[in-house]
Amino acid sequence: MSIDDSMNAGAGAGAGATSMETNTHDLFGLEGCPQRINRSLSLNLTDHTYLPKAKDPRRDWVASVALPALRSYAAVHGESSVDTFATIGTGAGTDVLAAIETLNPSTALVTDLHEEVVEHAVDNIRRNVPDSSMHTVEGYVGHLGEPLTAHSGTIDLLYENLPNIPAPTHVDLAAGQATSSFFDTSALAGVPAGAHRYLLALHCAMLNQARTLLSPSGRVVCSIGARAPLTEILDVLNSTGFDTELLGYTWKIQSEPEEVIGGYVDQERKGGGPFHFYPVDALARVLSPYSPQQAAGQAKKIEQDLAGSAFDVDTAFEAVKRGDPVGHTVVAVQAAPVD
Ligand SMILES: C[S@@+](CC[C@H](N)C(=O)[O-])C[C@H]1O[C@@H](n2cnc3c(N)ncnc32)[C@H](O)[C@@H]1O
Repeated sequence: MSIDDSMNAGAGAGAGATSMETNTHDLFGLEGCPQRINRSLSLNLTDHTYLPKAKDPRRDWVASVALPALRSYAAVHGESSVDTFATIGTGAGTDVLAAIETLNPSTALVTDLHEEVVEHAVDNIRRNVPDSSMHTVEGYVGHLGEPLTAHSGTIDLLYENLPNIPAPTHVDLAAGQATSSFFDTSALAGVPAGAHRYLLALHCAMLNQARTLLSPSGRVVCSIGARAPLTEILDVLNSTGFDTELLGYTWKIQSEPEEVIGGYVDQERKGGGPFHFYPVDALARVLSPYSPQQAAGQAKKIEQDLAGSAFDVDTAFEAVKRGDPVGHTVVAVQAAPVD
């Protein structure tokens, strides 16, 4: 279904709807004034909305991954290379605000699995730009790119930061933010075998669908927590028929750590991986000399430099249970369909 951009603020809010007042410095770590979005940000959220980690950009996906990746994209392809931008699984809509700031698309399409998440995201985007008539914002509800077939045009840039972990039986995907970390494995036809082993299946399923949604020069940017070796991640994505290039290599403190690392422990027991995490101080030490864009050019070397500090999944799980901060590297991969 489609939710157009004339929806009222808060429409469809379920129990647990809440709001967050923040600003582009606290949320995105932006110094100075943003160019195309408001400096003060007001976000309406629901129980199902992936929570922006305001005041801690290193825990926030948009601040630490999407924004630098979209900046790199603008640097490589030009600030006016994207007329229509789409996010698959938008959460609060802050990834679209980052796209408006960096690439100024005239049309932004947002999707998520939960209707009220999409309603609020559309409204959050419109409310946090100085002139909402400058951007058409359309919301769509459904699995991956399926609802976007209702949109009449093609997409120049599709961004995704989808979950990696197949939902175990004890996880209720209808509850809280479960769909931010876990996914339903029932609708994943045609993904390569390595995608299951390295927990990249939803990203590959999205790439399979993207082919028919993209404009002739359109691309996908996949944001992926890199708990598998870099070469395996890129090989798996390439095997879907896309050319890939690293746009960014950075790190994040593991959010929802017990839930997520516990999920990796279970998947490794079932034959996945092997996966790895790192202590936060090692990530900060090794990666701090580089911007995400610079690190992308040195990613293999950085991965080797980090290897001596890597935690296997059990060590990482023990560390978070003790309260020690654990993180992981993240790749922002640009993917273009091979003809
Ligand atoms: C980790 S959150 C990312 C939110 C936001 N894009 C960001 O980067 O902060 C993943 C989002 O994807 C959504 N999602 C999960 N599975 C999905 C699917 N099959 N189709 C569409 N959205 C999905 C979740 O509901 C959640 O909002």
